[in-house]
Amino acid sequence: MHSRTDGTRRVVVVTGANEGIGFNLLRSLVDDGYRVVGVDVAGSNLRPLQERFPDQVRYSECDLTVDDDVTETVEAILDDWGRIDILVNNAAVFHYGAFTDQSIEQTREEFEVNYFGYVRMLRAVLPHMLARNEGLVHNVSSGVAAVGHPGMSGYASTKGAIEALVRSVRSELRHTDVACTLLYPPLTNTRSAAELGYPDSLLSDPEVVGRKLADRIESTGPRVWADWQTRVGMAVVELFPALAKVGTARFVDADPPVEASKTE
Ligand SMILES: NC(=O)c1ccc[n+]([C@@H]2O[C@H](COP(=O)([O-])OP(=O)(O)OC[C@H]3O[C@@H](n4cnc5c(N)ncnc54)[C@H](OP(=O)(O)O)[C@@H]3O)[C@@H](O)[C@H]2O)c1
Repeated sequence: MHSRTDGTRRVVVVTGANEGIGFNLLRSLVDDGYRVVGVDVAGSNLRPLQERFPDQVRYSECDLTVDDDVTETVEAILDDWGRIDILVNNAAVFHYGAFTDQSIEQTREEFEVNYFGYVRMLRAVLPHMLARNEGLVHNVSSGVAAVGHPGMSGYASTKGAIEALVRSVRSELRHTDVACTLLYPPLTNTRSAAELGYPDSLLSDPEVVGRKLADRIESTGPRVWADWQTRVGMAVVELFPALAKVGTARFVDADPPVEASKTE
């Protein structure tokens, strides 16, 4: 088991790292001495960080929906730093709205980034980790995988698919020293979460969440939570899904248009 203090030479790749949870996680890992690669379509925040910490930070421009982009990105990291110790599959998109208002293209795009983006990175990185028989892949999921969420049918489905993927791959890796986890941040005040309409008081500060996830970066358990509150909250709604419905209905309105009610 590696500790926070020996992060110096270890290389962590974080996808979707230009903003939100990914950026703040990467920023905290830099403070802890890790070498980090931020993989994202945009580099507006990552480029200045690379200029500030040229020995520790790389920005890799990559569209996770494109096979060649992903394989070339991983090859370039291995050429540059010779190793990838930890991958954090984090990038995601979501299209908010009632299921009946969503197009199949929107759902496809969510799967291309959120699910196939994770699959592409796993495929590119696992051969390297298996060759060294050492490595860790965190896959950022969400409580919506288990309980759903109004207005997030496509996104929640991608998270459900990720959970089944990770459980399957983890069991295939059980005789190796390569681990695959599901990683759970709390509800966090990022650009995507802002669309949901929850009050600020329920949203965690992305900087604080980044710090908490960085503190757990070496965890190899099947499920890794940012903090005990997230763990307990998820356990409660998984046991009593009706509570999640009450919680979301208070703040979120994504009901489909209904022309005539059954009682008329
Ligand atoms: N925020 C929450 O409350 C919350 C709660 C539970 C779980 N999560 C999970 O935590 C992770 C991060 O969420 P977040 O809220 O921080 O998201 P975010 O702020 O929307 O950041 C997502 C990042 O992914 C990038 N990205 C999108 N499509 C990409 C592609 N094709 N290739 C490469 N990069 C791409 C985005 O780049 P652009 O901005 O340029 O599109 C953005 O930098 C996600 O997996 C999310 O499901 C979030």
